[in-house]
Amino acid sequence: MIRSTLLFLALAIASVHAQTTSPVFGQCGGEGWTGPTACATGSVCVVQNPFYSQCVPGTVTTTTGPTTTVSTSTASKTSTASTSTASVPAQTGFVKVSGTKFTLNGAPYTFFGGNAYWLPLMGYSTADINTAFDAIVGSGATTVRTWGFNEVTSPNGIYFHLWNGNTATVNTGANGLEMLDAVIAAAKAHGVRLVIALHNQQLVNFIWTLANFSSFNHRSDYGGMDVYTAQILGSGQFHDVFYTNPTIIAAFKTYVQAVVTRYINEPTILAWELANEPRCGGSNTAASPTCNTTTITTWIETMSSFVKSLDSNHLVTIGDEGFFNRPGSNNFDFVYQGTLGIDFEANIKITTVDYATFHMYPESWGESDVEPWGVQWITDHATVMASANKPVIMEEFGIVNTTTRTSTYSDWYSTVISTDITGDLIWQSGAELSVGPTPDDGYMIFPGNPEYTLMQQHAAALKARG
Ligand SMILES: *[C@@H]1O[C@H](CO)[C@@H](O)[C@H](O)[C@H]1NC(C)=O
Ligand SMILES: *[C@@H]1O[C@H](CO)[C@@H](O)[C@H](O)[C@H]1NC(C)=O
Ligand SMILES: *[C@@H]1O[C@H](CO)[C@@H](O)[C@H](O)[C@H]1NC(C)=O
Repeated sequence: MIRSTLLFLALAIASVHAQTTSPVFGQCGGEGWTGPTACATGSVCVVQNPFYSQCVPGTVTTTTGPTTTVSTSTASKTSTASTSTASVPAQTGFVKVSGTKFTLNGAPYTFFGGNAYWLPLMGYSTADINTAFDAIVGSGATTVRTWGFNEVTSPNGIYFHLWNGNTATVNTGANGLEMLDAVIAAAKAHGVRLVIALHNQQLVNFIWTLANFSSFNHRSDYGGMDVYTAQILGSGQFHDVFYTNPTIIAAFKTYVQAVVTRYINEPTILAWELANEPRCGGSNTAASPTCNTTTITTWIETMSSFVKSLDSNHLVTIGDEGFFNRPGSNNFDFVYQGTLGIDFEANIKITTVDYATFHMYPESWGESDVEPWGVQWITDHATVMASANKPVIMEEFGIVNTTTRTSTYSDWYSTVISTDITGDLIWQSGAELSVGPTPDDGYMIFPGNPEYTLMQQHAAALKARG
């Protein structure tokens, strides 16, 4: 009897407690937040940006010292922290470029990690997002690349940009950019930095496609750049109209401005990326006969200088596949011919582009001898890196053949080290979450895979090389 009364009491207290405090890594404040502003024991509420405060592990020490991590304008919303110093992982300073390397607060910054586009797009709980970062950090990652876009034409699930006719609105709510806020907060709590892509060449509606790969092709009408061209100019446009039509450029700038200005002072973001894999043609739409590398180089100049004009804190990169414009070279291998609209050597010279990237999928590009072909592709980019004197990142790479994958990645990682390529991000990092594994496209590396161990070794080698 006494026992059950005590149990009842304990449950009653627990449920009251659950309503008045946020769990570790939960939200505890921010514009529009109506939930608890106090944090579970052992954690403290820290302002991440005006829209998101988070309970991070640590203790509040009441002192008369200066406030370090809590901004005074929003501190009143987040408890008495204005007179307190939170002992939380500090993340200060912005990653900078020095020659072909990165630095952070004057020290070398090792650029290594993986892609995890799905982080803000799947509706994962904060706990699951943190579990994902646990797995990613365990591979030795310092840097993670994710998506800062999601175009839709009807409000559904998570979306960042909603089109209605020829006008679009940015979704800053809980099923919009607040998901990106939560990813940034989790990255910060794990001490890693983010590369955030602002757009995609071909994009489909990620809520559906990535939750369920078998329905991928049924949803391809929700394309990224093609959504802009179809909504603004009507269907049937050439893909590259996206890069040249003034109304479309203005609409894209409006979206970019909304995202970039939300995070200008956020050191967890390493770089803004203009678009994932821009090309003259889309996956479902043709390139116009006049599109060439000048078309996209000009667009990169326009957009990178626009981002720089808004935000002088963050680095800017393109997010392209690093194709060469060397017609007739390399046995007419298509990735060297300039026909896709990318000229790596021209683009790396753009002054408002801080570093360059290349991607590497020799299997799906139809290259005959995958492993040595990759070695040559890495080496060719390293040569341009040295002459341009800017960092170059192998930003995506992968094969799906698991028989040869570990030995192939081992060889490619060694080539990154020996050619002095600045760093790399695997496609892609994965994790087991409470709702199951993260969406696997055949390339995903989970903790326990042999490639995961390889990543840990490569992270150490990159750090030692400097
Ligand atoms: C995935 O898509 C297939 C085919 O459209 C469907 O049969 C299946 O139920 C979907 N699975 C989930 C988990 O939505
Ligand atoms: C692309 O085409 C334009 C004319 O349409 C031309 O002026 C320009 O030189 C071409 N660029 C390249 C790299 O060939
Ligand atoms: C994977 O690579 C091995 C070794 O080159 C080859 O024998 C095998 O056919 C490949 N598997 C697939 C599915 O391509």
